[in-house]
Amino acid sequence: MARTPEAVIIDPDLGTRADIKRALMLAHFTVSGEAGYGIEAVTVAKEQVPDVFVVSAEEPVARALQTIEALGDALPDTPTIVYSSLADAASVRRAMVSGARDYLIKPVKPEDLTRAIYGVMGQEERRRMRASGERQEAPAHGTVITVFGAKGGIGKTTISTNLATALVRATSSTVVLVDMDTRFGDVAIMMDVAVEQSIADLARRVGEMDRDTVRDYLVRHHSGVMILPAPLHPTEWRNVTPQQITKIINLLAESYDYVIVDTPGTFNEIVAVTLESAGLILLVTSMDIASIKDTALALEMLQSADVSEDKVKLMINHSTAANTLREEDVERVLEYKVFWRIPHDLNVATSTQLGQPVVITKPYARVSRSISDLAAALRGTVTEKKGFLERFLGH
Ligand SMILES: Nc1ncnc2c1ncn2[C@@H]1O[C@H](COP(=O)(O)OP(=O)(O)OP(=O)(O)O)[C@@H](O)[C@H]1O
Ligand SMILES: [Mg+2]
Repeated sequence: MARTPEAVIIDPDLGTRADIKRALMLAHFTVSGEAGYGIEAVTVAKEQVPDVFVVSAEEPVARALQTIEALGDALPDTPTIVYSSLADAASVRRAMVSGARDYLIKPVKPEDLTRAIYGVMGQEERRRMRASGERQEAPAHGTVITVFGAKGGIGKTTISTNLATALVRATSSTVVLVDMDTRFGDVAIMMDVAVEQSIADLARRVGEMDRDTVRDYLVRHHSGVMILPAPLHPTEWRNVTPQQITKIINLLAESYDYVIVDTPGTFNEIVAVTLESAGLILLVTSMDIASIKDTALALEMLQSADVSEDKVKLMINHSTAANTLREEDVERVLEYKVFWRIPHDLNVATSTQLGQPVVITKPYARVSRSISDLAAALRGTVTEKKGFLERFLGH
């Protein structure tokens, strides 16, 4: 063989990742990349196009199995070897069904790796001779969801913070929540995290950033949601350009399964690029007449800006108890299908005061169930192979 085979290690645990790297190097393989699960794994895989993936699978294994499948979809010609401390037949079988070609029980010795890697590469060579596979060239990209609305105070931030949390908790996705409210960004307050650096600080330096260094600007919420906060003072947005925002969103989407973007109740050029970058726009309306009227204008504006109707999903949020209109009326007036509805729930106000998302403080409240179901619906469609939006739009 002309060159030493290249491996990419996928393991969220930095300790075991280092162990396996050592074993690979002792066995004279080149480690060309390393990553955790999910989009990050697929991004590194597509950049490196290695000869083999070496993937950790420990309990709970769902995320590892999803990643093995995603790697198989992204690079069908690169075989995967799993290493794990789970030695039972069911675990081995599940990994193989997801697409693993070999399964090593820990502790993994360099000679085990040598045998397994050359074994699966030989198999792959034979398979390639039988049939030539296609390779997807598009870069890995998480789903960007922009939470938008024509007015202030209709529940955009409530939905952004809770949807981000529900996606992490209910679906084990990796999520970054970006506070793009150019007036009163209050994600950090609602999630009770301290702001040291904001999106404005990042924007200034984004020209020098890559997807790893961009993470230094994120704050971790205890739920696992990563947050890119708004600046403490709105004047700091002054020199932030739409180009910088596009770059930030793209960098984040290379590493996270979901980038959730919260927006202000106004329209400006920063909001415009968050809509352009979005794979899905959740257009939030409350049930009062003024909000419906403004939502009609927002729909018109999105149409004239050539935003594909397919990606705009109308969400009714019962942010107040008043209920003069019926949902059918809303659909009739707006001539637009309601995609999701979130019930009114007093638990929202109490958890906002506690600085925690209601899906954490009251997971069984009606509002929490509605938002968790939304997260599961989004996730369920994302894991299928076809483009997420095409399928989503089908119903
Ligand atoms: N489903 C709901 N049930 C009860 N209260 C709600 C609900 N959704 C939102 N609220 C309340 O409505 C108020 C406004 O919510 P939120 O701050 O999320 O709106 P916003 O659209 O982000 O506002 P802004 O544009 O000012 O940022 C908050 O007091 C929140 O507690
Ligand atoms: Mg808000």
